[in-house]
Amino acid sequence: MLQQVNFPSGTVNFYFDGEFNALWGICDTEKVVIITNDHLAAIYAGYFKKCTVVVIQHGESNKTIATITTLTKELLQVEATRKTTVIGVGGGVITDIVGFLASVYMRGVSFGFVPTTLLAMVDAAIGGKNGVNVGLYKNIIGLIAQPNFILFDTHFLQTLPETEWSNGFAEIIKYACIFDAPMLDELEQHSISYYKQNTVALNLLIERCAGWKNKTVIADEKETGIRKLLNFGHTAAHAIENLYELPHGKAVAVGMVIACLIAEQQTGLSEAVTKRIKKILQRYHLPVSIKLDARKAMQILSMDKKRHDNQIDYILLNDIGDAVIMPLALNTIENALIAYESNN
Ligand SMILES: NC(=O)c1ccc[n+]([C@@H]2O[C@H](COP(=O)([O-])OP(=O)(O)OC[C@H]3O[C@@H](n4cnc5c(N)ncnc54)[C@H](O)[C@@H]3O)[C@@H](O)[C@H]2O)c1
Ligand SMILES: [Zn+2]
Repeated sequence: MLQQVNFPSGTVNFYFDGEFNALWGICDTEKVVIITNDHLAAIYAGYFKKCTVVVIQHGESNKTIATITTLTKELLQVEATRKTTVIGVGGGVITDIVGFLASVYMRGVSFGFVPTTLLAMVDAAIGGKNGVNVGLYKNIIGLIAQPNFILFDTHFLQTLPETEWSNGFAEIIKYACIFDAPMLDELEQHSISYYKQNTVALNLLIERCAGWKNKTVIADEKETGIRKLLNFGHTAAHAIENLYELPHGKAVAVGMVIACLIAEQQTGLSEAVTKRIKKILQRYHLPVSIKLDARKAMQILSMDKKRHDNQIDYILLNDIGDAVIMPLALNTIENALIAYESNN
């Protein structure tokens, strides 16, 4: 089902509940270069026969400028021009890399995404943020540019490892917490295995999350206001993710718990809500506690892109479906992390 979404920086065609083969109706095979990773190239070799394919190694550690340089050389090698459409087929690592690469290669060529992880389908492929890491600093180099299209094919998820399903549900639970109390009720009643078996429910869930993200990004593409709400759980997550090499979704789960504990102090969020969110995270096999070195986490956190002066805009809940942006002093955050460290 095609849905056209107009963002300030461009229109994106969303093909929900689609099939990979529909790609050949969207793009001219002669002018397409697919960029994917070694995992997907091995599993889906048959899919990639119709056009030029460039394969990189999987993993967050490859989301670097070095990969951008390598891929630039590969694009030159396969004679990609300004008329080429570059398509990222993969999880968030691929879509982040490809969005950035395509936006700077020859000062910008068309690009599209076929997200193949649940996390990329509900989050990473949507919203136009692209970029790479430098050292411990996540997504520190990048830009905002919208793809021409995003094609959703949930068949890919049949080969997705169980742990990656959990990572995707971290972002889904995030949308429910900040925007959508009825969706949290639904999640509470179901489970990963339910959504694996019920593709109709899964596609509806993906579309619902994409709808929340689109609405937020349309209102505030450059993240000066309401888009910040999508960072619920992410401020602490970015530090945790780098320090402990936890996958993004797992780090976001822990980050949401930390945000709830801070909210109990700052907004008067009820302990019952924190408890409920923890239970739902565990239902989707996500961690709620880790051994944390508060001081080390704080060092990374204080480099947060959202920092201004000695404050960071933290996303807190008043209640489920009611999130607020609250500037918090660095020492308030540090105290919360120290308290978390001693309780876990
Ligand atoms: N740009 C954004 O707005 C945004 C939002 C959220 C996350 N992100 C970024 O996304 C990244 C995380 O994305 P991710 O969770 O998709 O991780 P990922 O891209 O690393 O994919 C996870 C693993 O699953 C494998 N895989 C992917 N699809 C598969 C399939 N269909 N079958 C079998 N294996 C498959 C991959 O090879 C990889 O090993 C992080 O770098 C994060 O910063 C970006
Ligand atoms: Zn995220």
